[in-house]
Order: sequence, then C-alpha cells, then structure tokens
Amino acid sequence: MCGIMGYIGDENAVNVIIKGLEDLEYRGYDSAGIAVSNGSETTVVKTAGSPSGLWDKCKSIKANIGIGHTRWATHGAATEQNAHPHTSEHGMFSIVHNGIIENYAELKSGLDGVRFTSETDSEVIAQLLEKEYTGDLKGTVGGVVKKLKGSFALGIMCSDYPDVLVCAKKSSPLFVGVSPECTYLASDISAVADKSMRIFRLNDNEIGMLTKDSFKVYDTDGCRIRKSEVKIKSFDKSADKGGYEHFMLKEIMEQPTAVRRTLDEITADGKISFKGIKWNRDEISEINNIRFIACGSAYHAGLVGAYAAERLIGCPAEACIASEFRYMYPHLDSNTLVVIISQSGETADTLAALRLAKKKGAKTVSIVNVENSTIAAESDCVIMTRAGKEVAVATTKAYSAQLAVIYALVLYIAMAGEKISKNEFQRYVNELKKLPDKIEQILISAEVGRIPDKILAGDYVCFIGRGFDYCTAEEASLKLKEISYIPCEAYAAGELKHGTISLISDKSLVIALCCSSELKDKIMSNVNEAAARGAKIITVTDIDGDGDIKIPNTLDMFFPSLEIIPMQLIAYYTAKNKGCAIDKPKNLAKSVTVE
Ligand code: AGP
Repeated sequence: MCGIMGYIGDENAVNVIIKGLEDLEYRGYDSAGIAVSNGSETTVVKTAGSPSGLWDKCKSIKANIGIGHTRWATHGAATEQNAHPHTSEHGMFSIVHNGIIENYAELKSGLDGVRFTSETDSEVIAQLLEKEYTGDLKGTVGGVVKKLKGSFALGIMCSDYPDVLVCAKKSSPLFVGVSPECTYLASDISAVADKSMRIFRLNDNEIGMLTKDSFKVYDTDGCRIRKSEVKIKSFDKSADKGGYEHFMLKEIMEQPTAVRRTLDEITADGKISFKGIKWNRDEISEINNIRFIACGSAYHAGLVGAYAAERLIGCPAEACIASEFRYMYPHLDSNTLVVIISQSGETADTLAALRLAKKKGAKTVSIVNVENSTIAAESDCVIMTRAGKEVAVATTKAYSAQLAVIYALVLYIAMAGEKISKNEFQRYVNELKKLPDKIEQILISAEVGRIPDKILAGDYVCFIGRGFDYCTAEEASLKLKEISYIPCEAYAAGELKHGTISLISDKSLVIALCCSSELKDKIMSNVNEAAARGAKIITVTDIDGDGDIKIPNTLDMFFPSLEIIPMQLIAYYTAKNKGCAIDKPKNLAKSVTVE
C-alpha cells in the first residue's frame, strides 16, 4: 500500500509532492520521504510516521523536480533509515519503490563492497543502478529492470540528468499525468485523475522518461513505445482497479458511493420506499416473525438486521445460516417474512433456503446486488443494492450496501406497523442518510498503523463485541480469516468467560468493538478480563471514547456500518503484509454455487 509521487514543473516540487503523499495517506504508511533537486544538488528528507512530518524538515528547500514515497514496511523495520527514497552509495541515484523485489538477496550478494544503509529490499535497486550506470540513463534503467524479480513501481532520479524523472513498473500500478506546465508521476490514479491532465498508465516492463514538458516510453531494450491516453471515465469500470493494487482496496474505498447510491434509490424527502415491495400496509402489519437468511458476510448483515428488527419492530427476529436453515425444520407461515440476503444472488445454500421458505408459505424478499440473478427471479419481492460489480472475493462494498438496505427495510416495516413514532422514524432516517459521509470520513483518516504487525506477531486473535458490535466482530473475523488465512474467531464478549477465555495468553490479541453506548461498561469489563490474562488489546470506540481506533458517533444500530471499515482495512493490510492473493484468496470463490 505504499504511495509514490513524482513531479517536474514550475511549482516548488517539495510542496506538490508532500501534498500528494498526504492525499495518498489513507493507503496506510509508517514512514515517508522525498528526494528533490534544484538542478545542481539532490536533497533527500525522510520521516517516520505520516508524510506531514516532512513539512518542517523541508521548510527551506526549493526544487522543481522530485520524487516522494509513503512506506508501509514489508522488508526492514518501519524506521526513518528504511524510509524511501533510497540513495546509491555515491549519491548518483535516488529511487522510490512500491512492491517487493523477490530476488533482492541474490542481487545484493552481487554488490560486494557496496555500503548499504538500510534493511530494505528496495535499496538494492539504487545500488544496482549506480553499479551498472554507463552514462546512458534509459539503457541503464532498462538493464536493471530486466534483473528485478517480483513486483515494483519505481520512481528514479539520476544526478547526471537533473531535469529527468524515470519510472518503470511490474505488477504495482504507476500513472503519469502530463499538462503543458508540468508532469506528474503517481502510484494512484486518483493523484492525477482530478487534474486537467492527459493520463497514461505504464504497463509492465515499460520505461518512462519524464521531463517538464514531455513523456516518452520505451521497452527495456530502448525501443520507443507509443502510449494512448487513459480516459477518466474508464476508471469507473469494475474491470479496472482504478490504480489500486487490489480490487478489494478499491472496493473498500468505493463504500461511501455504494451506500449513497443504494440509499438514494430507497430514501427521498425523509421517506423510505421500495419499488420492489408489493405488500400493503395491512399485510406488512401482520408480519409477526422475521428470518434473515444468508451465508458468510451476508449472514452477518442479517445478524444486524435481526438485532434491529427485534428492537424496532418488536417481533421475534433471527438470522439463520442458509446451509443450516433447512435442517432446522423451521416453522414458517404467511405472517413470516423471510429476508434473503445475497450479493451474487446465486449462492446455492441461500437459494435452497428461499425455495423452502416459499414452499412453506412465507413472504420472501431478497436483497441482491446482481440484477436478474436466480434468487432475485424466484423471490416475491426484490430490493437491489447499488454497490456496482464487486470483483474481490471478500465482500466489502456489497456488505455495506446490504446493511443500508436492511436498516431501511426494518425502519420501513416498523413505520408501516406503527411500531415507532414519526419523530423516531425521522431521527433514524436522518442518521441513516449520514452514513456515507461518515464512512468517507473514516476512510480518509483511517490509521491501521501497526495493528497488522501485532496480528502477525501473535498466536491467537479474537474479535469481541456485544449487541450490534458483536455482529461486526463476526464480520471482522471472517474478513481477516478469508484473505490472510490467519486463524481467528469472533465471540460475544459476555461469552468469553464461559470457556474461550482459557485460550487467552500474552500471545493473544483481542480486538474489542466497544461502540454501542448502552453496553460500554459491560464490554469494558470483558476487555479487562482479557487484559488481566495478558492479552494485547485493541479497542474500537466512538470519537468520544479513548479507543485505539475511533470512529464517528452514530446511533447504536448503525455502528456496524462504520466500525467495519477499519476492520476491513486491518484485514487488507495484514493480508498484504503476508503477501496473500487478496482478491482471490485460496479455496474461495466469489459466488458459491455448490451446496
Ligand atoms: C464474504 O467476504 C465471503 N466472500 C462470503 O462469505 C460471502 O459473503 C458468502 O459466500 C455469501 O455470498 P453471497 O452474498 O453472494 O450470497
């Protein structure tokens, strides 16, 4: 999740680059640095922590060309010394790198006598460039790139070419923005997409030569490559990662839009309406039992629904795992509402549960993200989530959109059955409409910091919560498991003392979701029980609490929509640190069409 910025132009490169790195900050970081040149000398400044720490250190520096980097440590501790840019032994080259050089040890062994100053894999690139430098910058970079194995996005400066930035990539994304006044280099398309620039995406093993007013691309043998511009509108296509390294991260970042679009379709002028629901007020008022039926994350969304429905509608409500539902021999009738939740609309277990519910005469409504899916086609009523195509196997934006629909559906039924007052309904709907902005606020400020390191260092991870927070604990645990393959579990916090607490030791990490206002004292006593047995604790609280992670305040029912965001990012960056296949985790499929 490192971030790269480069700039050549008439503005002070220091300001442009640090600002650009701050814009990339949501990607997570633990150190940052820049290398800038005033034409005669290159200055390198680094800082541990946020890129903002560079401002004070760069006050007096003026330059028109430079590169910058925010680092999330993969090789070498998260220290200033290991921060990028890395400079070659005699200062000829400065580089920033995104990715992992898998053969860095082999390359380093061929650099006997060279003085290395960091523990990183990236530094070997700078040292190799200087060792193999022939005076021909493009040729030298091409030759070195051919030797690199693994993934890389590179920004390179050479003191012999003070007006040129060089870039190259393999697997990790890299974009160039060109305007009449300046040229940008960025690892994130968002860093250049909002400017009136011509945008180019570098492809693997291409060498980009950037000057203030030109951008030329070559292959590693020095042959010129003609590049076509990337059109801004294509970034919305789900087939495009939009400059993110993984679809999952892109989809995490798309959640504000996914929830906003979903809510815009079902809420207007403070009211809730569902085009897909055909029952009249009397039929809705007769509902005396609600079952939320789904698998995996969709089941966890159903859990939230069950807690909310029992509280606001005042009738028995439960979430059922679809693959178990049939074997519960459930008692259903026409006053039972079965809410089927499925992103794909094709999950075999969920489809089988839908068919059983219909056979038993229950009212069925499905919440799906795929138009014309089998589940949608076979349900009495359908409510669409508008998350857009979700590519990553681990669901994020579809899950958040499911929650939004479920909240709205529970409020709609409660209002139709006159179970809540108009004022209470309005209070909930007003807060519901604020969720997209609050999710956005979290994404911009989220700091997962070193939590992934703590997860990787321990031997047992447990997510705990009570009430609505417990629902999120279940989803958070699944997210971490399915993409990082780290064994972990979720527990109702009050249940710990009934057995599981025997697992807690000083090698345990307990991540406690403590946002619910009515259960704050109770969850904190469970946290203390775990801490008393040596567990490391991470707490998630609302902004007024003293949690390690703080999220904006909202009504208890809506906390699952907010507190899941840092949990998704923790799962993502833990898996990334482990080098897992994040978008396509082993053994998993996006749609489980087998029972
Ligand atoms: C979620 O991250 C998983 N990929 C999985 O649990 C998923 O939620 C489950 O398979 C249900 O899929 P559906 O929503 O398409 O029915």
